Amino acid sequence: MALITAPLIVYCGIALAVTTFVTVVCYAIYTHREHKRYSHVPSPKRQSFFLGHIPTLKKYDDSGRTLMDLFRDWHAECGPILIIFLMHRPIVFSAHPDVAKEVMVTGNHTKPPKAYRSFQFLFGSRYMGYGLISEIDHSQWTRKRNALNPAFNRKFLMEFMSQFNESCDVLLDFMSNKTDQTTQFKMLDLFERLTMDIIAKVAFDIDLGAVCDANQPLSKAISSTFNAVAHLIRNPHDQINPFAASFRKQVRAACELLRNTGNKCVEERIQAINSGSTPRQDILTYIIKSTNEDDDIQVQIEEMVDQFVTIFIAGMETTANQLSFALIEICKHPEVLARIRKEVDCILQSKNHVTFEDLNSLQYLGQVLKETLRLYPPVFAATRILSNDVTYLGYHLPAGTEVTVNTFQMCRMEEYYENALQFDPDRFAPDRERPMFTYFPFSLGPRVCIGQHLSQMEAKVVMAKLLYEFDFKLVPGQSFELLERATLKPKDGVMVTIRPRDRVAAC
Ligand code: HEM
Repeated sequence: MALITAPLIVYCGIALAVTTFVTVVCYAIYTHREHKRYSHVPSPKRQSFFLGHIPTLKKYDDSGRTLMDLFRDWHAECGPILIIFLMHRPIVFSAHPDVAKEVMVTGNHTKPPKAYRSFQFLFGSRYMGYGLISEIDHSQWTRKRNALNPAFNRKFLMEFMSQFNESCDVLLDFMSNKTDQTTQFKMLDLFERLTMDIIAKVAFDIDLGAVCDANQPLSKAISSTFNAVAHLIRNPHDQINPFAASFRKQVRAACELLRNTGNKCVEERIQAINSGSTPRQDILTYIIKSTNEDDDIQVQIEEMVDQFVTIFIAGMETTANQLSFALIEICKHPEVLARIRKEVDCILQSKNHVTFEDLNSLQYLGQVLKETLRLYPPVFAATRILSNDVTYLGYHLPAGTEVTVNTFQMCRMEEYYENALQFDPDRFAPDRERPMFTYFPFSLGPRVCIGQHLSQMEAKVVMAKLLYEFDFKLVPGQSFELLERATLKPKDGVMVTIRPRDRVAAC
């Protein structure tokens, strides 16, 4: 027996070694071919043949700098078009408006599967699945988008106004007994909980009560999944790394929590409809109507849950980041605050809520919110896969190339914005011209954000009410650096103290 086993082990060992060797050689040949195919495109120095630019991404992270710093340095070195490799995967990056226009608007390019894989599934667990953001099949996406568009029309948005006000009032109450100027608030957390309450109510008719609950598990689940998406770009091997098993388990549990919440909500609504009650006409109603009736019911439910998770996350995270960045800049610029208050006081001194009609009068506040997104776009870039060969700025790129256009970078370039790093809401005054195809915080082209108007109405209401009620002071010693975790957010979370405002009669 031992005599038979020994050669078998040797043969298996040799077979394994040969297979590994052949795989490594094939992979090396493939990677080399990809490097050669794009050798005409400027590229920052690669630190590793196999890992490509991944070690540089990690080096920047470890030294406390962000992807934003890295791309600024890379574009300074290589110009407006450059290529990097994530292992064997090439991605072209551009900070030029002509490229942005072709990639996003005039060209007929779609979302690349590889870039959205982590949004569909995380470590094998379904996450956003094939919801509106991560659906990459164009015809499926068209069906889903057409079905959900009516839920974001003007009539619906007008009805959301009272909820924006109500949820914001809960936050004001929560903060108002801590106006001692020593209690510190982490505004990013509060904004996340507020925007979560709002989207849960207006989209799905759920009362979460997250504002008053610092340990809201859904909030933790969302940050866990976003961390994982960002982590996988720098550490793709953690998909299989045995030492990352507990990290994977924790992320899977977060996905499950989000999806179970969605599942429960969808099934309750379907039951209510089946039992003859007239459902509330909200976003969930449209999600339920949007599925393909020819599909199996379980497939339909999964698709509804995909949309639930997508809208829930997209509906809170980015708006909370925008509000947080806006508050930093408002606190740093008393002249901006004074101008906002002139508008806000006129509206709120006679009543305690902002109406749909009032939104137009908050013109300057709107400019402040737009300027915030210029300097701090929570989604700082967009990626497409070329459906045909294209030549950008003299560089020929074959069909199938992934191209990322970077609004963050362009919005901070002197070529396009004078004193680009200065916070100046007057750039968005109605009579001012701005460079085209540089500023696209809500993306561009057919896959533009569906929640753009909803989010900006909500942001106006929240900011107006907070600034009417309180004086904010930034806690000294915090950094205002950026943190990239799938979206851009303020690293230290915007720590403030507050006091009730000394109000003077306005208007
Ligand atoms: C300041 C707030 C917001 C910003 C900056 C923002 C930004 C964006 C961007 C850049 C995209 C394109 C993403 C991509 O290319 O993969 C996008 C898509 C999307 N956003 Fe937003 N968003 C915001 C608020 C919202 C809100 C409040 C909702 C929902 C209520 C929402 C729902 C969506 C959805 C469903 C998509 C996918 C659209 C499609 O492909 O058809 N967003 N958003």
